[in-house]
Amino acid sequence: MFVRRIAVIGSGYVGLTTGACLASLGHRVVCADVDASKVAQLAAGKVPILEPGLPELVVEGLAAGRLQFVVGAATAVGQGPDAAEVVFLCVPTPMGAGGAADLSAVETVAAEVRSLLPAGCVVVNKSTVPVGTAARTAQLLDRPDVAVVSNPEFLREGSAVEDFLNPDRIVVGCDAQDAAERVAALYARLGAPAVLTDAASAELVKYAANCFLAMKLSYVNAVAELCERVGADVLDVTEGIGYDRRIGQSFLQPGPGWGGSCLPKDTHALLQVCSAADFDFSLLRASMDTNTRQQHRMVDKIREAVGGSLAGQRVGLLGLTFKAGTDDLRDSPALTVAALLATEGADLIGYDPEVPAAVPGMTDDLQVSDDPLKVASGAAALVVLTEWPEFRLLDWGRLAELVERRIVIDTRNLLDADVLRRVGFEVRGVGRRPSQVLTSS
Ligand code: UGA
Repeated sequence: MFVRRIAVIGSGYVGLTTGACLASLGHRVVCADVDASKVAQLAAGKVPILEPGLPELVVEGLAAGRLQFVVGAATAVGQGPDAAEVVFLCVPTPMGAGGAADLSAVETVAAEVRSLLPAGCVVVNKSTVPVGTAARTAQLLDRPDVAVVSNPEFLREGSAVEDFLNPDRIVVGCDAQDAAERVAALYARLGAPAVLTDAASAELVKYAANCFLAMKLSYVNAVAELCERVGADVLDVTEGIGYDRRIGQSFLQPGPGWGGSCLPKDTHALLQVCSAADFDFSLLRASMDTNTRQQHRMVDKIREAVGGSLAGQRVGLLGLTFKAGTDDLRDSPALTVAALLATEGADLIGYDPEVPAAVPGMTDDLQVSDDPLKVASGAAALVVLTEWPEFRLLDWGRLAELVERRIVIDTRNLLDADVLRRVGFEVRGVGRRPSQVLTSS
């Protein structure tokens, strides 16, 4: 394998994982960020995000001299014989006005590095960007001797390193085949199938994948609602359909709606791409509406459980992050449900193993406690919103003594209803058969 000199611009989830993993594959990587304190932390081997395996890779890369952290894109690109041969753009592309991706960070970096890039260098876009961004980046760079490649990333928060090092596929898009092949070769040691295509197709792969996952989840959440109405059990139904290899067992867990920093943003952004292309992707829109409906349905369940009105009712929330295994609160369905409950006057207190204290601007609708017992104290209902495995192991006997009413709404179908029933709790899941969840005897 050729060892390449690589610059990674942006040291967030994707950039940091990309940099640390490429260094572990033997490449020489310089990661840049605009935040000097973050860079100092990383250079000292301290990783500011919860991501299994990442701290170890960062420390290993630093010690081996294959990984460096610097402030600013220009420094990372470097000069002379040490200049980067491949420059990864891993900057944020948040939801901008009207739901379209905001590309200002990509534009800023392009302007900053355009005159510094050595001839023959490849600029790789790993950020999730609308179709046509590679072409637009090439225009902004205005460097015919530099190829722009789209190489979307499919890693999940909480398993980012594992996903990077064991990918289902590598997707590389460029209108110049040799540049695409050079980027694909960076990953040669991973042995994953490589899809080499044009830039627009690679850009669309990323949106099409995330939106498919969102649709799959909305489908499952809709099936869960149907299960409740007809007296079926969604766990049996999803197991039954999941054995079909064309469907697969993964991504079939119903929940309080899907969230996080990617699926909500990318579904909105693809709708914008569709509208610009004069295409009504009604299937995608329906999936987004189903997601909103699912969040409201959770609130309906909670309201019903506390007797018809949430006003003044103490509700204890277990889990605040958008899924287990992360400390990320961005677009968390738990917080959306909390906001809806707060609108109806509920008095909210929440616990999350990775959110020890209030996060201003995120958790303003509730009081955050570091103790699940405090969350249970006086609660008219407890609501599981994130599938943290440790919630199964809480001292439910003790919680039963503390709550005002022994009822749990388990939006993740996480808990063992039999265990809870033994200490007097009624457990209501999502899409579960009523006979399994409604009685406390
Ligand atoms: C998602 C994609 O899964 C990654 O492939 C992609 O690379 C990433 O976005 C990205 O674009 O960067 P992530 O946002 O980390 O990854 O989260 P997911 O694991 O996809 O979960 C998204 C939401 O779906 C969460 O709220 C989760 O709780 C929910 N979910 C997931 C379910 O409700 N049920 C499931 O069975 C799976």
